[in-house]
Amino acid sequence: MKEILFRDADSLLGCERNGDGVYFTGESQARLSIDADTAGYYSFVFGCDLVYGDAWHDVTVTGPDGTSIENRVGFCKARRETHAYLYLFQGKNTIEMKGVYGNGTFYRICWSDEPAPLPYAVSPTYEIYYHDSPRTLRIHLLHYDRKPREIRWEGGRLPFETRPSQAEEILQGDAMIRSELGLSPEALAVLPVGKHQLEVVLDDGRALPYQLTVEERDEQAPFEILNFNVHHGNSTLLSLPNGKHLLIDSAKEECAKDIVLPYLERKGIGVDYYLLTHFHDDHNGMLEEILAQNGIKQPDVAEVEASLTGKASERYRYLAQYGYLDSRMLRPFDRLDQIWDLGGVEITVLNSRLDESGHSTIDMTDENNSSTSLAVEYEGFRYHHAADNYANVEERMMGLWEARGDKTFLKCDYFYANHHFHGSVSDEFIRYINPEAVFVSAQAAVYARAAYTTVYREGVERCDYPNKRLKDTLLSCEVGSARIKVFGGGKWSYMCIDDLSQI
Ligand SMILES: [Fe+2]
Repeated sequence: MKEILFRDADSLLGCERNGDGVYFTGESQARLSIDADTAGYYSFVFGCDLVYGDAWHDVTVTGPDGTSIENRVGFCKARRETHAYLYLFQGKNTIEMKGVYGNGTFYRICWSDEPAPLPYAVSPTYEIYYHDSPRTLRIHLLHYDRKPREIRWEGGRLPFETRPSQAEEILQGDAMIRSELGLSPEALAVLPVGKHQLEVVLDDGRALPYQLTVEERDEQAPFEILNFNVHHGNSTLLSLPNGKHLLIDSAKEECAKDIVLPYLERKGIGVDYYLLTHFHDDHNGMLEEILAQNGIKQPDVAEVEASLTGKASERYRYLAQYGYLDSRMLRPFDRLDQIWDLGGVEITVLNSRLDESGHSTIDMTDENNSSTSLAVEYEGFRYHHAADNYANVEERMMGLWEARGDKTFLKCDYFYANHHFHGSVSDEFIRYINPEAVFVSAQAAVYARAAYTTVYREGVERCDYPNKRLKDTLLSCEVGSARIKVFGGGKWSYMCIDDLSQI
């Protein structure tokens, strides 16, 4: 690796020297020079120490002929080193770094001696297609400087269309170039029922595997979960085995109006239960209207509290009685264990417990950190809904369940990730719960957040850890909404839906 120190920068504007480093705010700029023998993507490591949770900077690389590439790089306090791939031109490059958000001291930039191997990727990596429910499959492709050439299957090639990625609204740390490949129902009609190993082939011959299961019919499963693509927000619908529906959050008002409510109306789905994880506007859109339209009463919190006898069941009675619960009623005044059984689906609040010494597992000073984190179980399938808790709450939960001698309770098959990967992510927690798929409701801004680009990608996605099961990270800005079908007996599957009107 080569290295340059910020204190040796060609120019500093609005930065203050701080020991061995340079203190940046959202106003600061630094200009440094880097020589490259060969043009290409290089692996970069930025060394910094932040004051708050996260920060992001615009990093513009300008080559000898004046051509520029803008990148946005995110940093987080949890890691003093942030990794990124940046393109360097042959010859002298000027690196201009401008603070956009967050404060901290930056020390050095290190970069690889030669262009680095790039993590080309498709997302999702496996999918399901039903012949009786035709839709266009979208494959999100991260291809940097290469181009997609063909999609192969055992029987030949599948025609596809390419469009720019919907997520390409912001430049980001990996300086990635993305596209979306579309496989139309006509293209997919040739595939027989069964499992197919497809390959997305780039123009350099590199082949990226994409597993597609084709089934005859899109049969309703006893239990289904739909994670709506509501950008930076949260709304999830649970279709329960008893025919009732539980809505967890309803996103921002505009997303509730444009995405969630039209879907419910079109499908003729009434909301029987509503659970609000916390009182932020990216979660409680159209709350009053949804409750009123569905005849759900909102119990008086004081009345709920007054009725408590110290038994958890008293608190949870309100979901069945009124159809509504919010995080205020789930805050930890007592020891809470198992909660509802909704038609065979068991839901447990993971962070409403007191620990052995009587301390709450919730950080009551922060609305996000007092949001309700849930485990949902149906016949051996486990789904975790993390709401907007930060890493510290997740690590406390882990410690609590460990201390109780229950090492398996937090394990899950599918994880709805915490706080849109904004602020902080506990990679240790995600490795511990060891899901097969992680869904993140996020806008493309996630690409400029080190919680995703460094902590998660290096600590979970690219990290080899014992018994790793992770197959897919489903960013909603890349894959759209996701629907999980749970059949029981350990059988479950999910599909990603670019356009909800297609299901
Ligand atoms: Fe949120």
